[in-house]
Amino acid sequence: MDAQDVGTDLERVLLTKEQIAARVQELAAELDRDYAGKDVLLVGVLKGAVMVMADLSRAMRIPVAMDWMAVSSYGSGTRSSGVVRILKDLDADISGRHVLVVEDIIDSGLTLSWLLANLSSREPASVRVCTLLRKPDAAKVHVDVAYVGFDIPNEFVVGYGLDFADRYRNLDAVGTLAPHVYS
Ligand code: XMP
Ligand code: MG
Repeated sequence: MDAQDVGTDLERVLLTKEQIAARVQELAAELDRDYAGKDVLLVGVLKGAVMVMADLSRAMRIPVAMDWMAVSSYGSGTRSSGVVRILKDLDADISGRHVLVVEDIIDSGLTLSWLLANLSSREPASVRVCTLLRKPDAAKVHVDVAYVGFDIPNEFVVGYGLDFADRYRNLDAVGTLAPHVYS
């Protein structure tokens, strides 16, 4: 790695590119079985879920539709504000369809519980959640997450879609940032 490599700002790699790819394959196989024969709409939550959505959907063999939502939760900081706002709504009408929300990470679960209530009010046939990462705090809020890639420690992580001040999303691994980056 040279000085221009975003990976040099990582303190510790939690999940390698290979570990992520292997787990995404497993999740896709599970989804293929569970949603066989159904009208599935994958709903990616921008921007963090872009990488997992791209890899997960391509690892799936059943036909799926894809749509995106953007909601605000964190700004450029590292803690949840609890205030959720729709920045971009779905293009699709989800009534009667099987919706699978694809998330990068569930931390407090505040964003997700708000999102699920919002989507449920549109009368889909079902709504489930698939997240690549889940932190321990997620257990405090009652959100049922059907598919979890990895449970990780309660640390701020970046990479594979996850950002700090909109950077590091393009790392192919997930890791913690070196302290000097925050200061
Ligand atoms: P809550 O707390 O509402 O937060 O479950 C979910 C959203 O917060 C962001 N988030 C993170 N982003 N590294 C990030 O880059 C993290 O460790 C982290 N924890 C939470 C993320 O946008 C997620 O959708
Ligand atoms: Mg997110």
